[in-house]
Amino acid sequence: MSNEGKGREVQPAEGKLGVLLVGLGAVATTTIAGVESMRRGLAKPIGSLTQTATIRLGKRTDHRAPMIKDVVPLADLSDIVFGAWDPIPDDAYASALNCGVLRPEHLVPVADFLKSIKPMPAVFDKAYVKKLDGTNVKTGENKFDLAEQLRADIRKFKEENGCDRLTMVWAASTEIFLTPDPVHATVESLEQAMRDNHPSVAPSMLYAWAALQEGVPFANGAPNLTVDIPAMVELAARNRVPIAGKDFKTGQTLMKTIIAPGLKVRMLGLSGWFSTNILGNRDGEVLDDPESFKTKEESKLGALEHILQPEMYPDLYGNMYHKVRINYYPPRGDNKEGWDNIDIFGWMGYPMQIKIDFLCRDSILAAPIVLDLALFMDLASRAGMCGIQEWLSFYFKAPQVAAGLYPEHDIFIQHMKLKNTLRWIAGEDQITHLGVEYYE
Ligand SMILES: NC(=O)c1ccc[n+]([C@@H]2O[C@H](COP(=O)([O-])OP(=O)(O)OC[C@H]3O[C@@H](n4cnc5c(N)ncnc54)[C@H](O)[C@@H]3O)[C@@H](O)[C@H]2O)c1
Repeated sequence: MSNEGKGREVQPAEGKLGVLLVGLGAVATTTIAGVESMRRGLAKPIGSLTQTATIRLGKRTDHRAPMIKDVVPLADLSDIVFGAWDPIPDDAYASALNCGVLRPEHLVPVADFLKSIKPMPAVFDKAYVKKLDGTNVKTGENKFDLAEQLRADIRKFKEENGCDRLTMVWAASTEIFLTPDPVHATVESLEQAMRDNHPSVAPSMLYAWAALQEGVPFANGAPNLTVDIPAMVELAARNRVPIAGKDFKTGQTLMKTIIAPGLKVRMLGLSGWFSTNILGNRDGEVLDDPESFKTKEESKLGALEHILQPEMYPDLYGNMYHKVRINYYPPRGDNKEGWDNIDIFGWMGYPMQIKIDFLCRDSILAAPIVLDLALFMDLASRAGMCGIQEWLSFYFKAPQVAAGLYPEHDIFIQHMKLKNTLRWIAGEDQITHLGVEYYE
Protein backbone atom coordinates (compact mmCIF):
# COMPACT_ATOMS: atom_id res chain seq x y z
CA MET A 1 0.00 0.00 0.00
CA SER A 2 3.00 2.30 -0.43
CA ASN A 3 2.34 5.42 -2.48
CA GLU A 4 5.98 6.39 -2.83
CA GLY A 5 5.83 9.77 -1.16
CA LYS A 6 2.64 10.88 -2.94
CA GLY A 7 -0.72 11.24 -1.26
CA ARG A 8 -1.39 11.53 2.45
CA GLU A 9 0.58 9.94 5.19
CA VAL A 10 -1.89 7.49 6.73
CA GLN A 11 -1.37 5.79 10.06
CA PRO A 12 -1.92 2.03 9.77
CA ALA A 13 -5.29 0.57 10.81
CA GLU A 14 -3.76 -1.51 13.57
CA GLY A 15 -5.55 -2.63 16.72
CA LYS A 16 -9.22 -2.51 17.58
CA LEU A 17 -11.65 0.12 16.33
CA GLY A 18 -14.49 0.91 18.74
CA VAL A 19 -17.67 1.94 16.90
CA LEU A 20 -19.85 3.88 19.32
CA LEU A 21 -23.46 4.10 18.19
CA VAL A 22 -25.80 6.64 19.70
CA GLY A 23 -29.14 4.83 19.67
CA LEU A 24 -29.57 1.07 19.65
CA GLY A 25 -32.71 0.91 17.50
CA ALA A 26 -33.48 -0.39 14.02
CA VAL A 27 -30.51 1.02 12.13
CA ALA A 28 -27.94 0.32 14.84
CA THR A 29 -29.00 -3.28 15.55
CA THR A 30 -29.28 -4.09 11.83
CA THR A 31 -25.73 -2.80 11.39
CA ILE A 32 -24.36 -4.77 14.33
CA ALA A 33 -26.18 -8.01 13.49
CA GLY A 34 -25.01 -7.68 9.88
CA VAL A 35 -21.36 -7.11 10.74
CA GLU A 36 -21.33 -10.05 13.16
CA SER A 37 -23.06 -12.30 10.58
CA MET A 38 -20.41 -11.30 8.05
CA ARG A 39 -17.62 -12.02 10.51
CA ARG A 40 -19.09 -15.49 10.97
CA GLY A 41 -19.40 -16.01 7.22
CA LEU A 42 -23.19 -16.05 7.36
CA ALA A 43 -23.88 -13.01 5.15
CA LYS A 44 -22.27 -10.81 2.50
CA PRO A 45 -21.70 -7.05 2.99
CA ILE A 46 -24.08 -5.98 0.22
CA GLY A 47 -24.44 -2.22 -0.17
CA SER A 48 -21.11 -1.41 1.46
CA LEU A 49 -18.46 0.33 -0.65
CA THR A 50 -15.72 -0.30 1.89
CA GLN A 51 -16.30 -4.04 1.70
CA THR A 52 -17.29 -4.68 -1.91
CA ALA A 53 -16.46 -1.77 -4.24
CA THR A 54 -13.48 -1.57 -6.53
CA ILE A 55 -11.77 1.62 -7.65
CA ARG A 56 -10.23 2.21 -11.04
CA LEU A 57 -6.64 3.48 -10.87
CA GLY A 58 -4.67 4.87 -13.81
CA LYS A 59 -5.69 4.57 -17.44
CA ARG A 60 -8.36 2.21 -18.72
CA THR A 61 -5.63 0.36 -20.59
CA ASP A 62 -3.84 -0.29 -17.27
CA HIS A 63 -6.60 -2.65 -16.12
CA ARG A 64 -6.07 -1.72 -12.48
CA ALA A 65 -9.27 -1.90 -10.44
CA PRO A 66 -8.41 -3.10 -6.94
CA MET A 67 -10.82 -3.14 -4.02
CA ILE A 68 -11.06 0.17 -2.17
CA LYS A 69 -9.91 -1.58 0.99
CA ASP A 70 -6.72 -2.66 -0.79
CA VAL A 71 -5.92 0.91 -1.85
CA VAL A 72 -6.42 2.70 1.48
CA PRO A 73 -5.87 1.07 4.87
CA LEU A 74 -9.27 0.45 6.47
CA ALA A 75 -10.04 -1.27 9.76
CA ASP A 76 -10.89 -4.92 9.26
CA LEU A 77 -14.37 -6.10 10.28
CA SER A 78 -12.74 -8.49 12.73
CA ASP A 79 -11.21 -5.50 14.57
CA ILE A 80 -14.52 -3.71 15.21
CA VAL A 81 -15.95 -3.54 18.73
CA PHE A 82 -19.44 -2.07 19.16
CA GLY A 83 -20.78 0.09 21.97
CA ALA A 84 -24.04 2.04 22.23
CA TRP A 85 -26.19 4.37 24.32
CA ASP A 86 -29.97 4.22 24.43
CA PRO A 87 -32.64 5.43 26.88
CA ILE A 88 -34.40 2.10 26.37
CA PRO A 89 -32.49 -0.55 28.35
CA ASP A 90 -33.00 -3.46 25.90
CA ASP A 91 -29.84 -5.22 24.75
CA ALA A 92 -29.13 -5.36 21.00
CA TYR A 93 -30.89 -8.73 20.64
CA ALA A 94 -34.13 -7.65 22.36
CA SER A 95 -34.08 -4.37 20.47
CA ALA A 96 -33.50 -6.06 17.10
CA LEU A 97 -36.37 -8.50 17.73
CA ASN A 98 -38.59 -5.59 18.69
CA CYS A 99 -37.61 -3.49 15.66
CA GLY A 100 -38.50 -6.39 13.38
CA VAL A 101 -36.11 -5.52 10.56
CA LEU A 102 -34.20 -8.80 10.53
CA ARG A 103 -36.08 -12.05 10.87
CA PRO A 104 -35.39 -14.34 13.85
CA GLU A 105 -33.65 -16.82 11.52
CA HIS A 106 -30.97 -14.13 10.95
CA LEU A 107 -30.83 -12.97 14.57
CA VAL A 108 -30.74 -16.27 16.42
CA PRO A 109 -27.34 -17.36 15.00
CA VAL A 110 -25.76 -14.17 16.40
CA ALA A 111 -27.98 -13.90 19.51
CA ASP A 112 -25.11 -14.49 21.96
CA PHE A 113 -23.17 -11.59 20.48
CA LEU A 114 -26.17 -9.26 20.31
CA LYS A 115 -27.14 -10.00 23.90
CA SER A 116 -23.64 -8.94 25.00
CA ILE A 117 -24.25 -5.39 23.73
CA LYS A 118 -26.13 -3.52 26.43
CA PRO A 119 -26.73 0.18 26.02
CA MET A 120 -25.00 2.63 28.30
CA PRO A 121 -27.39 5.10 30.01
CA ALA A 122 -28.27 7.83 27.54
CA VAL A 123 -28.33 11.58 27.71
CA PHE A 124 -31.98 11.89 26.85
CA ASP A 125 -34.58 14.62 27.18
CA LYS A 126 -38.16 14.07 26.14
CA ALA A 127 -38.46 17.73 25.23
CA TYR A 128 -36.39 16.93 22.11
CA VAL A 129 -38.00 13.59 21.14
CA LYS A 130 -41.59 13.88 22.22
CA LYS A 131 -42.82 10.41 21.36
CA LEU A 132 -40.23 8.47 23.37
CA ASP A 133 -39.92 7.45 27.00
CA GLY A 134 -36.87 5.84 28.49
CA THR A 135 -35.59 4.67 31.84
CA ASN A 136 -31.94 4.14 30.99
CA VAL A 137 -31.11 7.79 31.33
CA LYS A 138 -28.31 9.77 32.98
CA THR A 139 -28.97 12.48 35.52
CA GLY A 140 -26.67 15.40 36.11
CA GLU A 141 -26.31 18.93 37.40
CA ASN A 142 -26.61 20.48 33.95
CA LYS A 143 -25.97 19.72 30.29
CA PHE A 144 -22.24 20.29 30.69
CA ASP A 145 -22.12 17.73 33.48
CA LEU A 146 -24.07 15.24 31.32
CA ALA A 147 -21.62 15.74 28.46
CA GLU A 148 -18.72 15.13 30.86
CA GLN A 149 -20.38 11.84 31.84
CA LEU A 150 -20.42 10.89 28.14
CA ARG A 151 -16.71 11.65 27.94
CA ALA A 152 -16.15 9.34 30.90
CA ASP A 153 -18.17 6.60 29.10
CA ILE A 154 -16.02 7.00 26.01
CA ARG A 155 -12.77 6.67 27.95
CA LYS A 156 -14.06 3.70 29.95
CA PHE A 157 -15.28 1.92 26.80
CA LYS A 158 -11.93 2.44 25.12
CA GLU A 159 -9.99 1.08 28.03
CA GLU A 160 -12.27 -1.86 28.88
CA ASN A 161 -12.34 -3.01 25.27
CA GLY A 162 -8.67 -2.42 24.53
CA CYS A 163 -9.49 -0.14 21.59
CA ASP A 164 -6.78 1.59 19.67
CA ARG A 165 -9.21 4.12 18.11
CA LEU A 166 -12.90 5.06 18.31
CA THR A 167 -15.49 6.52 15.98
CA MET A 168 -19.04 7.66 16.79
CA VAL A 169 -22.17 7.53 14.60
CA TRP A 170 -25.50 9.10 15.60
CA ALA A 171 -28.17 6.48 14.83
CA ALA A 172 -30.64 7.77 17.40
CA SER A 173 -34.01 9.42 16.93
CA THR A 174 -34.69 12.61 15.05
CA GLU A 175 -34.91 15.52 17.47
CA ILE A 176 -37.25 18.50 17.22
CA PHE A 177 -36.44 21.19 14.70
CA LEU A 178 -33.83 23.63 15.99
CA THR A 179 -32.54 26.66 14.14
CA PRO A 180 -29.03 28.05 14.60
CA ASP A 181 -28.85 30.22 17.71
CA PRO A 182 -26.23 32.74 18.87
CA VAL A 183 -25.15 30.23 21.55
CA HIS A 184 -23.96 27.95 18.70
CA ALA A 185 -21.49 30.58 17.47
CA THR A 186 -18.32 29.60 19.33
CA VAL A 187 -17.02 26.77 21.51
CA GLU A 188 -17.06 29.12 24.48
CA SER A 189 -20.68 30.24 23.95
CA LEU A 190 -21.77 26.63 23.42
CA GLU A 191 -20.07 25.46 26.62
CA GLN A 192 -21.60 28.34 28.57
CA ALA A 193 -25.02 27.39 27.15
CA MET A 194 -24.40 23.78 28.27
CA ARG A 195 -23.78 25.05 31.79
CA ASP A 196 -26.90 27.24 31.60
CA ASN A 197 -29.09 24.36 30.34
CA HIS A 198 -29.96 26.46 27.31
CA PRO A 199 -32.83 24.94 25.24
CA SER A 200 -30.86 25.37 21.99
CA VAL A 201 -28.41 22.68 23.16
CA ALA A 202 -29.96 19.36 22.18
CA PRO A 203 -28.78 16.00 23.57
CA SER A 204 -27.20 15.16 20.19
CA MET A 205 -24.88 18.14 20.62
CA LEU A 206 -23.70 16.81 23.98
CA TYR A 207 -22.68 13.49 22.38
CA ALA A 208 -20.92 15.35 19.56
CA TRP A 209 -19.15 17.68 21.97
CA ALA A 210 -18.01 14.71 24.09
CA ALA A 211 -16.75 12.87 20.99
CA LEU A 212 -14.83 15.87 19.68
CA GLN A 213 -13.29 16.55 23.09
CA GLU A 214 -12.11 12.93 23.18
CA GLY A 215 -10.72 13.11 19.62
CA VAL A 216 -13.40 10.75 18.30
CA PRO A 217 -14.75 11.36 14.76
CA PHE A 218 -18.50 12.05 14.74
CA ALA A 219 -20.93 11.27 11.89
CA ASN A 220 -24.54 12.42 12.14
CA GLY A 221 -27.09 10.03 10.64
CA ALA A 222 -30.16 12.06 11.58
CA PRO A 223 -31.27 15.46 10.27
CA ASN A 224 -30.56 17.14 13.63
CA LEU A 225 -28.40 20.27 13.70
CA THR A 226 -25.80 18.60 16.00
CA VAL A 227 -22.38 19.26 14.40
CA ASP A 228 -23.73 21.61 11.74
CA ILE A 229 -23.06 24.70 13.84
CA PRO A 230 -19.98 26.98 13.92
CA ALA A 231 -19.04 25.93 17.47
CA MET A 232 -18.67 22.27 16.48
CA VAL A 233 -16.79 23.12 13.29
CA GLU A 234 -14.42 25.19 15.44
CA LEU A 235 -14.03 22.41 18.00
CA ALA A 236 -13.38 19.82 15.27
CA ALA A 237 -10.66 22.03 13.80
CA ARG A 238 -9.17 22.84 17.20
CA ASN A 239 -8.96 19.17 18.23
CA ARG A 240 -8.21 17.97 14.64
CA VAL A 241 -11.17 15.58 14.48
CA PRO A 242 -13.31 14.70 11.41
CA ILE A 243 -17.04 15.44 11.41
CA ALA A 244 -19.73 14.63 8.82
CA GLY A 245 -23.47 14.82 8.39
CA LYS A 246 -26.31 14.83 8.05
CA ASP A 247 -29.14 12.32 7.70
CA PHE A 248 -28.34 8.98 6.04
CA LYS A 249 -29.34 9.00 2.38
CA THR A 250 -31.57 5.95 2.00
CA GLY A 251 -34.98 5.28 0.39
CA GLN A 252 -36.75 8.10 -1.34
CA THR A 253 -33.98 10.70 -1.26
CA LEU A 254 -31.54 8.13 -2.64
CA MET A 255 -33.92 7.65 -5.58
CA LYS A 256 -34.39 11.40 -5.95
CA THR A 257 -30.66 12.03 -6.20
CA ILE A 258 -30.31 9.21 -8.73
CA ILE A 259 -33.17 10.33 -11.00
CA ALA A 260 -33.05 14.12 -10.80
CA PRO A 261 -29.46 14.38 -12.18
CA GLY A 262 -30.56 12.19 -15.12
CA LEU A 263 -33.46 14.49 -15.97
CA LYS A 264 -31.22 17.51 -15.63
CA VAL A 265 -28.40 16.28 -17.86
CA ARG A 266 -31.03 15.69 -20.61
CA MET A 267 -32.34 19.25 -20.00
CA LEU A 268 -35.87 17.96 -19.38
CA GLY A 269 -38.20 20.22 -17.43
CA LEU A 270 -39.84 19.46 -14.11
CA SER A 271 -43.10 20.99 -13.00
CA GLY A 272 -43.68 18.98 -9.86
CA TRP A 273 -42.39 16.20 -7.62
CA PHE A 274 -44.71 14.82 -4.99
CA SER A 275 -43.23 12.30 -2.58
CA THR A 276 -45.18 10.44 0.03
CA ASN A 277 -44.18 7.63 2.38
CA ILE A 278 -45.81 5.26 4.77
CA LEU A 279 -43.72 3.63 7.46
CA GLY A 280 -44.49 2.00 10.77
CA ASN A 281 -41.29 1.71 12.76
CA ARG A 282 -40.26 3.74 15.82
CA ASP A 283 -38.58 6.27 13.55
CA GLY A 284 -41.95 6.73 11.82
CA GLU A 285 -43.65 7.16 15.17
CA VAL A 286 -41.12 9.80 16.26
CA LEU A 287 -41.59 11.56 12.91
CA ASP A 288 -45.34 11.61 13.54
CA ASP A 289 -44.59 14.49 15.90
CA PRO A 290 -44.75 17.66 13.76
CA GLU A 291 -41.62 19.12 15.36
CA SER A 292 -39.48 16.09 14.53
CA PHE A 293 -41.05 15.88 11.06
CA LYS A 294 -40.08 19.48 10.42
CA THR A 295 -36.42 18.55 11.00
CA LYS A 296 -36.75 15.67 8.51
CA GLU A 297 -38.68 17.71 5.97
CA GLU A 298 -36.03 20.42 5.85
CA SER A 299 -33.38 17.78 5.27
CA LYS A 300 -35.35 16.10 2.47
CA LEU A 301 -36.40 19.22 0.58
CA GLY A 302 -32.97 20.62 -0.22
CA ALA A 303 -31.81 17.93 -2.65
CA LEU A 304 -33.91 18.84 -5.71
CA GLU A 305 -33.27 22.58 -5.53
CA HIS A 306 -29.53 22.04 -5.42
CA ILE A 307 -29.44 19.45 -8.18
CA LEU A 308 -31.75 21.25 -10.62
CA GLN A 309 -30.53 24.83 -10.02
CA PRO A 310 -33.83 26.60 -10.90
CA GLU A 311 -32.08 29.99 -10.79
CA MET A 312 -29.88 28.92 -13.72
CA TYR A 313 -32.65 27.12 -15.62
CA PRO A 314 -35.83 29.11 -14.97
CA ASP A 315 -37.62 27.70 -18.05
CA LEU A 316 -37.06 24.14 -16.89
CA TYR A 317 -37.26 24.31 -13.10
CA GLY A 318 -38.41 27.83 -12.20
CA ASN A 319 -41.97 26.77 -11.34
CA MET A 320 -41.30 23.36 -9.86
CA TYR A 321 -43.54 22.28 -6.97
CA HIS A 322 -41.88 19.94 -4.46
CA LYS A 323 -43.73 18.29 -1.61
CA VAL A 324 -42.64 15.58 0.84
CA ARG A 325 -44.99 13.71 3.15
CA ILE A 326 -44.26 11.03 5.76
CA ASN A 327 -47.14 9.14 7.29
CA TYR A 328 -46.89 6.84 10.28
CA TYR A 329 -48.64 3.60 9.38
CA PRO A 330 -47.89 0.83 11.92
CA PRO A 331 -48.81 -2.28 9.86
CA ARG A 332 -45.76 -1.83 7.59
CA GLY A 333 -43.17 -1.76 10.37
CA ASP A 334 -39.73 -1.01 8.96
CA ASN A 335 -40.82 -1.89 5.42
CA LYS A 336 -41.50 1.54 4.07
CA GLU A 337 -43.41 2.28 0.90
CA GLY A 338 -42.46 5.46 -0.87
CA TRP A 339 -44.40 6.86 -3.83
CA ASP A 340 -43.09 9.53 -6.12
CA ASN A 341 -45.16 11.24 -8.75
CA ILE A 342 -42.88 13.22 -11.04
CA ASP A 343 -44.37 15.63 -13.59
CA ILE A 344 -41.82 16.39 -16.27
CA PHE A 345 -41.99 18.11 -19.66
CA GLY A 346 -40.02 17.92 -22.88
CA TRP A 347 -39.78 19.33 -26.42
CA MET A 348 -42.44 21.99 -27.05
CA GLY A 349 -43.42 21.74 -23.37
CA TYR A 350 -45.24 18.39 -23.76
CA PRO A 351 -45.95 16.88 -20.33
CA MET A 352 -44.93 13.38 -19.23
CA GLN A 353 -45.11 11.55 -15.91
CA ILE A 354 -42.89 9.17 -14.00
CA LYS A 355 -44.27 7.09 -11.11
CA ILE A 356 -42.06 5.32 -8.63
CA ASP A 357 -43.30 2.91 -6.03
CA PHE A 358 -40.29 1.94 -3.91
CA LEU A 359 -41.01 -0.86 -1.46
CA CYS A 360 -37.84 -0.34 0.43
CA ARG A 361 -36.38 -1.45 3.74
CA ASP A 362 -34.97 1.59 5.44
CA SER A 363 -32.58 -0.04 7.86
CA ILE A 364 -31.34 -2.51 5.25
CA LEU A 365 -30.31 0.51 3.18
CA ALA A 366 -28.93 2.41 6.18
CA ALA A 367 -26.77 -0.34 7.78
CA PRO A 368 -24.00 -0.41 5.13
CA ILE A 369 -23.88 3.40 5.34
CA VAL A 370 -23.19 3.20 9.08
CA LEU A 371 -20.41 0.69 8.48
CA ASP A 372 -18.84 2.70 5.65
CA LEU A 373 -19.02 5.95 7.62
CA ALA A 374 -17.43 4.36 10.67
CA LEU A 375 -14.55 3.01 8.56
CA PHE A 376 -14.07 6.08 6.35
CA MET A 377 -14.22 8.49 9.30
CA ASP A 378 -11.55 6.39 11.01
CA LEU A 379 -9.51 6.51 7.79
CA ALA A 380 -9.90 10.30 7.63
CA SER A 381 -8.69 10.57 11.19
CA ARG A 382 -5.64 8.43 10.54
CA ALA A 383 -4.94 10.46 7.38
CA GLY A 384 -4.89 13.66 9.46
CA MET A 385 -8.04 15.04 7.79
CA CYS A 386 -10.08 17.08 10.23
CA GLY A 387 -13.28 19.13 10.18
CA ILE A 388 -16.10 18.62 7.67
CA GLN A 389 -15.56 15.56 5.47
CA GLU A 390 -17.42 16.72 2.38
CA TRP A 391 -16.17 13.75 0.38
CA LEU A 392 -18.61 11.63 2.41
CA SER A 393 -21.62 13.65 1.09
CA PHE A 394 -22.48 10.49 -0.87
CA TYR A 395 -23.97 9.05 2.30
CA PHE A 396 -26.10 12.01 3.39
CA LYS A 397 -29.42 13.63 2.52
CA ALA A 398 -28.26 17.09 3.61
CA PRO A 399 -24.47 17.10 3.26
CA GLN A 400 -22.59 19.39 5.58
CA VAL A 401 -20.23 21.75 3.75
CA ALA A 402 -18.00 24.68 4.60
CA ALA A 403 -19.69 28.06 5.13
CA GLY A 404 -20.35 29.73 1.79
CA LEU A 405 -20.39 26.51 -0.25
CA TYR A 406 -23.54 24.90 -1.60
CA PRO A 407 -23.80 21.14 -1.00
CA GLU A 408 -23.45 18.65 -3.86
CA HIS A 409 -26.53 16.41 -3.89
CA ASP A 410 -26.06 14.71 -7.26
CA ILE A 411 -25.10 11.16 -6.32
CA PHE A 412 -22.84 10.76 -9.34
CA ILE A 413 -20.84 13.87 -8.47
CA GLN A 414 -20.73 12.70 -4.85
CA HIS A 415 -19.50 9.27 -5.94
CA MET A 416 -16.75 10.77 -8.08
CA LYS A 417 -15.76 13.07 -5.22
CA LEU A 418 -15.56 10.12 -2.84
CA LYS A 419 -13.43 8.00 -5.17
CA ASN A 420 -11.16 10.88 -6.20
CA THR A 421 -10.59 11.64 -2.52
CA LEU A 422 -9.56 8.02 -1.97
CA ARG A 423 -7.21 8.29 -4.98
CA TRP A 424 -5.81 11.52 -3.51
CA ILE A 425 -5.25 9.88 -0.12
CA ALA A 426 -3.53 6.96 -1.82
CA GLY A 427 -1.37 9.23 -4.02
CA GLU A 428 -2.97 8.01 -7.26
CA ASP A 429 -3.90 10.20 -10.26
CA GLN A 430 -7.36 11.78 -10.32
CA ILE A 431 -9.71 10.38 -12.94
CA THR A 432 -11.23 13.14 -15.08
CA HIS A 433 -12.88 10.92 -17.73
CA LEU A 434 -11.38 13.17 -20.41
CA GLY A 435 -9.80 10.31 -22.33
CA VAL A 436 -8.41 12.20 -25.35
CA GLU A 437 -5.09 10.42 -24.83
CA TYR A 438 -6.64 7.23 -26.21
CA TYR A 439 -7.31 8.93 -29.55
CA GLU A 440 -4.52 11.44 -30.13
N1 LIG B 1 -33.49 3.95 8.58
C1 LIG B 1 -33.10 4.80 7.67
O1 LIG B 1 -33.04 4.50 6.53
C2 LIG B 1 -32.71 6.18 8.06
C3 LIG B 1 -32.37 7.05 7.05
C4 LIG B 1 -31.98 8.32 7.39
C5 LIG B 1 -31.91 8.70 8.70
N2 LIG B 1 -32.29 7.84 9.66
C6 LIG B 1 -32.25 8.31 11.01
O2 LIG B 1 -31.52 7.41 11.81
C7 LIG B 1 -32.04 7.46 13.11
C8 LIG B 1 -32.31 6.05 13.61
O3 LIG B 1 -33.33 5.45 12.86
P1 LIG B 1 -33.97 4.09 13.37
O4 LIG B 1 -34.88 3.61 12.31
O5 LIG B 1 -32.90 3.19 13.87
O6 LIG B 1 -34.85 4.62 14.59
P2 LIG B 1 -35.24 3.82 15.93
O7 LIG B 1 -36.34 4.62 16.52
O8 LIG B 1 -35.46 2.38 15.68
O9 LIG B 1 -33.92 3.93 16.81
C9 LIG B 1 -33.52 5.13 17.41
C10 LIG B 1 -33.06 4.81 18.82
O10 LIG B 1 -32.49 5.99 19.35
C11 LIG B 1 -32.80 6.01 20.72
N3 LIG B 1 -32.60 7.37 21.21
C12 LIG B 1 -33.42 8.44 21.14
N4 LIG B 1 -32.84 9.50 21.72
C13 LIG B 1 -31.64 9.11 22.16
C14 LIG B 1 -30.58 9.75 22.86
N5 LIG B 1 -30.68 11.03 23.21
N6 LIG B 1 -29.49 9.04 23.17
C15 LIG B 1 -29.37 7.73 22.82
N7 LIG B 1 -30.34 7.07 22.16
C16 LIG B 1 -31.46 7.75 21.84
C17 LIG B 1 -34.24 5.50 20.79
O11 LIG B 1 -34.58 5.05 22.06
C18 LIG B 1 -34.19 4.40 19.75
O12 LIG B 1 -33.89 3.14 20.31
C19 LIG B 1 -33.30 8.34 13.07
O13 LIG B 1 -32.96 9.65 13.46
C20 LIG B 1 -33.63 8.35 11.62
O14 LIG B 1 -34.33 9.51 11.23
C21 LIG B 1 -32.67 6.57 9.37
